[in-house]
Amino acid sequence: RQKHMEKQKMRLIVASNNANKLREFREILGEQFDIVSMREAGIDADIEENGTTFEENALIKANYVMNVGNSAAIADDSGLEVDALGGAPGVYSARYCGRHGDDEANIDKLLKNLENVPKEKRTARFVCAACCVFSDGKIITVRGECEGEILTERHGNGGFGYDPIFMANGKPFGEITSEEKDAMSHRGKALRLMSEQLKNIITE
Ligand code: IMP
Repeated sequence: RQKHMEKQKMRLIVASNNANKLREFREILGEQFDIVSMREAGIDADIEENGTTFEENALIKANYVMNVGNSAAIADDSGLEVDALGGAPGVYSARYCGRHGDDEANIDKLLKNLENVPKEKRTARFVCAACCVFSDGKIITVRGECEGEILTERHGNGGFGYDPIFMANGKPFGEITSEEKDAMSHRGKALRLMSEQLKNIITE
């Protein structure tokens, strides 16, 4: 009987198949929603991220998946902003070296471009915009940031992307556990903000 009374969770498709991202979405939003990946929703697509901001790209991805998947969807878009490079690589973080997703080449290029930049000028931040769209047209967008600095060489072998050369709160991201990272990362912050906003919506 108790089970019968439970409200069914709303399905929320995550516009990603990245296992690491899905784990984080499930951890933070799984109590409120039935989180499914694009693959689980039967969506096979390489969505073109041609926006000029993280928010625009997150909205493009979430909208696409909502329309094709016919249910509420959530997407995130993230990247690294380096102050000494005027905010680059920014929305181009995944393809900084010219190819999509070559983390090692991206890191090499970034280290080269910061070769003569002293420690105090190597400030940077990871940024994550998350966007949730509903079939009634409601849209929620949030942003999380994680301030840090770019190291002069790789540290540790954990994480992904630029983690080996990023340090926040004195901790190189390549050397911390995924729990430690979730607690201070841009994506962790954005998803916790999203969770709060979604609570307001659901109880409205
Ligand atoms: P996207 O949000 O999946 O489009 O990722 C953009 C790119 O930003 C990734 O390919 C990484 O290069 C970089 N990036 C985003 N979040 C992180 C992170 O938590 N650690 C390291 N690199 C990241």
